[in-house]
Amino acid sequence: MTFVIAIDGPAASGKGTLSRKLAAELKLPHLDTGLTYRAVAHALLEAQQPLDNEVLAAETALKLDLGTMDPTILADHAIGEAASQVAVMSSVRAALVEAQRAFAAQLSGAVLDGRDIGTVVCPDAPVKLFVTASPRERARRRWNEQVLKGADVDFDAILADIQKRDERDMARADSPLKPAADAHLLDTSEMDIETAFQTALSIVKQAKAN
Ligand code: C5P
Repeated sequence: MTFVIAIDGPAASGKGTLSRKLAAELKLPHLDTGLTYRAVAHALLEAQQPLDNEVLAAETALKLDLGTMDPTILADHAIGEAASQVAVMSSVRAALVEAQRAFAAQLSGAVLDGRDIGTVVCPDAPVKLFVTASPRERARRRWNEQVLKGADVDFDAILADIQKRDERDMARADSPLKPAADAHLLDTSEMDIETAFQTALSIVKQAKAN
């Protein structure tokens, strides 16, 4: 196994920001695997196709080119919700996991973040982090992000969405969201991003030293 840093956690836990910062610091390529599920959902929505047709969703997943994913378009809140619906389908997951593993196999090593990186995609990764924060704190961060963009958003609606997405991601049969047995747990509820980053960096440095 190349030097893979596997970062998992629920929506708005801070895992994305943390992964990008670690990748920049360590000069490693980074894949936000949530984008792969979002890209499949987005392609289906654009083609006005239903989200629950597994054959079509799997075909879309097999055709996905990681290089063409546009994070700006895919960041939309509604696409995240649609992504969690296509993410319950095993044949979609199988296609996307294959592409994610190919990314992880780069000789340079890599940082991957998602829900099942430490448990399914890269179970042999030498460093695994599971990043969490309380649902209220995660909803507050999402709300803040949206308000800064000028959106008119309701805190309780965001909190309800986050709770619904957690439930769907944790309850699905295939690759549910859960920490790997050997993951380091990082609760960022009371941490700013710099503290979370320094904590994660010291875990990575220790793993490298071993
Ligand atoms: O992390 P992000 O919010 O972009 O992920 C969108 C959805 O994609 C998640 O709610 C989850 O259902 C799915 N996902 C997944 N496995 C991953 C990454 C994301 O099931 N490795």
